[in-house]
Formats: sequence, C-alpha cells, structure tokens
Amino acid sequence: MMRRTKIKDVLAGAEAGGEVVVQGWVKTRRSSKAVSFLQINDGSTLKDLQVVVDRGLPIHEAAESLGTGSSVRVTGDLMESPGKGQTYEVHAKTMDVLGGADPDSYPLQKKRHSLEFLREMAYLRPRTNTFGAMARVRNAMAFGIHKFFQDRGFLFLQAPMITTSDAEGAGAMFRVTTLDMNKPPVKDGVVDDGEDFFGKPAYLTVSGQLEAEIFALALSDVYTFGPTFRAENSNTSRHLAEFWMVEPEVAFCDLDGLAELAEEFLKEIFSFTLAQCPEDMAFFDRFYDDTAISTLEDIAKSSFERLTYTEAIDILRGSGESFEFPVEWGLDLQSEHERFLTEKKIGRPVIVTDYPKEIKAFYMRQNDDGKTVAALDVLVPRIGEIIGGSQREERRELLLEGIRRHDLDEASYWWYLDLRSYGTVPHAGFGLGFERTVQFATGMQNIRDVTAFPRTPKSAEF
Ligand code: 4AD
Ligand code: MG
Repeated sequence: MMRRTKIKDVLAGAEAGGEVVVQGWVKTRRSSKAVSFLQINDGSTLKDLQVVVDRGLPIHEAAESLGTGSSVRVTGDLMESPGKGQTYEVHAKTMDVLGGADPDSYPLQKKRHSLEFLREMAYLRPRTNTFGAMARVRNAMAFGIHKFFQDRGFLFLQAPMITTSDAEGAGAMFRVTTLDMNKPPVKDGVVDDGEDFFGKPAYLTVSGQLEAEIFALALSDVYTFGPTFRAENSNTSRHLAEFWMVEPEVAFCDLDGLAELAEEFLKEIFSFTLAQCPEDMAFFDRFYDDTAISTLEDIAKSSFERLTYTEAIDILRGSGESFEFPVEWGLDLQSEHERFLTEKKIGRPVIVTDYPKEIKAFYMRQNDDGKTVAALDVLVPRIGEIIGGSQREERRELLLEGIRRHDLDEASYWWYLDLRSYGTVPHAGFGLGFERTVQFATGMQNIRDVTAFPRTPKSAEF
C-alpha cells in the first residue's frame, strides 16, 4: 500500500517532527541559491504545502526541472517553517516524479486565467484554487443537505431519471429514445412510438416531485436529491440544462409549515457550509464577492420576509422603478422584479406566496379566493428564485380542474389523481436548485462555474 498523509493533515501539524509521505501536483516552483521550493497541492485543502529540496540532494536536479502541473511523491521531514505564509513545511529526502507536465504546453500557467478560458479546460480546472474550493463547498453543502433532512427523520428516496410523465406540465423535456433518427419506424404517416425502447415516448425528468408525493403519502417525510433536466433555451447566468434539485415532500403539512421548513433549511445549510469550509469561503470572499461570508452569516440571523404575490405586485408598481418587463397582477414575476424585492426593497431573503393560479403548475392547491394557489417562491439577493414549491392539491375534483385548465392529458395522470381517491392528506413540498444555492453562497457570477461539467444550449464539454 502506498502511504500518504493528506496535505490538510500535514499542515495541521499531524506527525510534526517525523517523516511524512505526501503526494500531489506542483503548483509552482522557485529556486534560491541553496534550495528549491515546491508548492504542492492534493485537493484536501486550499492551501499548498511547501516542500524544500536542498541543493546537495541527488533529487535536486529533478526538482529543478519540475513544471507546474507535474505530479510527485515526496518523503521528508515535517518541520516548522521559518518562512511566512505557512506553519509547517516538508524537508524532502526522496522524491519520485509520478508524471511530468511540459511547461511549454501545460494549459494552466501561474497567472490567473479567466473563468471563460477555464470552462474550456474542464478537464484541468479542478486543479485551480477556484475549482478546488468549489468542489469542496459543493461537497460540504450536499452533505449539509442530507444532514438537515436525516436529522429530522426524512427518508432519502431516489426518483427515476427516465420518466414518461411531465412533472411540471410545462413541456421543455429531453426525449430519451433508441429510435433511428434517420430512419424512424412510421405507422399511419407518423413516427411509431410503440417501437421505441419503452413502447412509448420517454424523457429525462424535470423534477422528482410526483414520485416524492407517492412516497410522502406512505412514509410522511421524504426528500429526493438528484439530477434534473430542462430543455429550455435559456442562456442566462442562472440556468443549466442539467442541474441537481433537492425536493422535500411532507405529508400533513400546509403552506405555512412549508415556508418554515424552507427558512430553517436554508439557514442551516449555509451555516453548515461556513463552518465546514472556512478557508474556501474566505477565498471566494476575497477573490469573487466580498459580501459572500457576511451574506450567509446575516441569513442565519435574520428572519425571512413574507409577502403575498399581490403585496409584491403592489410594492413593485409603487416603486417608481422602471422595469424592462411589465408589472401587472396576473403576470409572472421576472428576475428583475424578484431581485428588486429581495435586494433593494427588503435586503434579505423573501418568501412570496399565493400566486395567480394561471401562472403556476397544475398541482398547486387552490386557495379559497378561487384566483390564487398556495404556492411559495424563496427569493434571495443576486439570484432571485432559489426555491419553488407549494401545498399540493389534495382534492381530486380540484386537481382534475387544474389538469384541464393547463390543457394536460388527464389520462396520463390517472395514478396521480387516484392518489387523491385513496387516503389523500394535505401535503406540501418544494424544490431547491442546488447549483443556484452554491452560486449564491460563493458569490460566483455564472452558474456555469459552480458545476463541474455545465450543460447549456449548444454547449456540453465531454
Ligand atoms: O420552480 P421549479 O421549476 O419547481 C419544481 O420543479 C417543483 N417540482 C419543485 C417542487 O415543488 N418539488 O424548480 C425548483 C428550483 C428553482 O427554484 C431553481 O432554484 C431551480 O430549481 N431551477 C434551476 N436551476 C438551474 N437551472 C435551471 N434551468 C433551473 N430551473 C429551475
Ligand atoms: Mg419555479
């Protein structure tokens, strides 16, 4: 077995005074008369480890030839460092070059590259400070999400990625097919879907909600956390065609209970991330958004504002602000409206409830006014909508009305309707966009830089 101490532990002083074996990639190298200094990183922490290679050693020449990006195994003594910037350093005794990297062709140089350039280097960008930090923050946040629900006795379930139902009833889905696009089977003049793999059209899921509802109506408190897909042609800094969604679904819960859960959830996962990743968050705060940390700290302390959609419209109309999109009762809130409310008007997260039924999904519970539904969106500064959810329509007749109002094929929702005929209960749930949440927490401008392999219209590397 190859022995290895992670650089994170080395820098914490574990094994100080003794011999350690470290392995990683060279970030930079510089030389003085007597020694070479290698900064190496293994991803366990943002910080690099300084390795000192004495000129008198047989390995010195090899160390001098190392370029950025090469990989090494170093055995040496872990000593307190007299230099600035680190408490410990390793004085090398032996070194193996595991893989060289030609300095003339290695794409990542010492200078800071643009995020756009790094997107084209998706196979190497995890080696940069930014994407290393991003990977660790994503990891902590995903763990925090599971922890939040597990601590509360929610059951983690896995919704299918391939589905034959359209959860949002909104259309924009990717078709999954094994039919030959050049020579599809034809019956009565149209493509014969019966010949397709599943014997009918199938799609990548846009949401695991409907499956989560099935389980909530048996196990009470459940959540999904997995990939979802949207084929909308949205080329914005907040949209991906493939993203991860967290979807809790709670039986015996109304809209107020759901709003409470959403607020508690966001506060806890942000606090958890700050506690787990202080260095990485400090990095984002320093290089990308100097309000990143204070924003998350404030969220943990503040209480979220609650507004009905109708109140939100009144505020927007009375604001004197000139918006690109019209503000009128019955029209959906655009990103600019959401951001005005949460950034300028309120200055902290806002939960907007009770939207007009025409602009929300068919499954949302109708309010007694007959005009609005028990919907909820959580808006945060810079991003706008981060959570969308609702109390679900548990009354069969009114659900059927919603399906018809949205011109959906009621036959294909037979089981969803039947759930309302067999032991229906009030229930509610929401969806949190994972990448938007990471984007918000880190202060990154573009959602393409908070996921390893972004998929957007006309773009999918690897
Ligand atoms: O508001 P949405 O569309 O809600 C649903 O899908 C519900 N079925 C959720 C539920 O009630 N269980 O999406 C939920 C969240 C949004 O608030 C947003 O954060 C994120 O998913 N989201 C996207 N994130 C990145 N790229 C996209 N194209 C997104 N579309 C939605
Ligand atoms: Mg939404």
